[in-house]
Amino acid sequence: MKKVIVTGGAGFIGSHTVVELAAAGYAPVIVDDLRNSEERALTGLAALLGRAPVVHRVDCGDEQAMREVLEAEGEVHGVIHFAADKAVGESVAHPTKYYRNNIGSLAVLLELMRQRGIRSMVFSSSCTVYGEPKELPVDETAPDRNAASPYGFTKVACEQLLRDEVSASPMLKAVLLRYFNPIGAHPSGLIGELPRGVPNNLVPYVSQAAAGLRDRLIIHGADYDTADGTCVRDYIHVVDLAKAHVTALDWMGQRPAPLCEAFNLGTGRGNSVLEVVRTFEAVNGVPVPHAIGPRRAGDVESVFADTRRSAEVLGWRARLTLADALRDAWNWQRRLG
Ligand code: UFG
Repeated sequence: MKKVIVTGGAGFIGSHTVVELAAAGYAPVIVDDLRNSEERALTGLAALLGRAPVVHRVDCGDEQAMREVLEAEGEVHGVIHFAADKAVGESVAHPTKYYRNNIGSLAVLLELMRQRGIRSMVFSSSCTVYGEPKELPVDETAPDRNAASPYGFTKVACEQLLRDEVSASPMLKAVLLRYFNPIGAHPSGLIGELPRGVPNNLVPYVSQAAAGLRDRLIIHGADYDTADGTCVRDYIHVVDLAKAHVTALDWMGQRPAPLCEAFNLGTGRGNSVLEVVRTFEAVNGVPVPHAIGPRRAGDVESVFADTRRSAEVLGWRARLTLADALRDAWNWQRRLG
């Protein structure tokens, strides 16, 4: 079985990807220091996999520790690099933390991959690299890469680092996956998102408001130039997103190096904040207390994916609906209590 290092494999998208890798016959090896995840994710994974996942509890940006992991694991087919800081607001307050961790860990991994002859990397990028797109849906060639936060710029910088490294290393293959808005949870209810403290993102907040853990959701602005005045995003089920990583690894495996390609991972549909709230209420039969508040600094008005390239080149498309994702998010929230 081909071993795949999954940095951040105890996190939200990482844990779902571990499940899909195992189902596809890969041997996932998690590298995660659990700084932003919990033991519960590993317990859930063990239940889903039918055995304890392989986990190295180290910081993937710690070069010595990471070197020891790779030595212990022997032959490794590729790396999926999820581990990163991802809170947009925190990145504005602490930019150095973001540049150091997000770019530094990628640099460590690339260096070690080069030393050990590991040829394939799948990188977690984001639609944030597009900033406020001029045209919708946004495709991978969109020219205006004016990311709206230090977090966003770390993704732009990491993509550039990968392009430069591939140019310099003819044996290297990289796929840059630009996620739109990942939501939902595994339908089993065994793994899902574990936000710490007050959630920043919409769907965890909606779930907590529905569960009575928050007074009400504040909708950040209803005066945008959209159908109902609230912002529009492309919400993609985390299980669809996880499967795309397996597709990307398979696809890279069939192609020669050097290779560096970017793909949008979204559904191609845009939904407003109010549509998310109403769909959540309809599919789950629970009210979501909410009120309109002021705009949130840095929010883009509308962004959704042009998915043609990922469908035509990679052969991947999202299958699950917004309703599926919101049903699974609520199922997970109820188990969390
Ligand atoms: N929103 C609310 N109330 C909340 C939380 C969110 O109204 O309590 C709104 C936001 O204003 C936005 C929408 O819900 O209009 C989605 O917000 P999220 O925070 O869930 O997601 P973002 O689109 O802001 O951010 C996501 C990722 C980032 C990435 C960004 C790129 O979380 O990692 O997309 O656009 F950088």
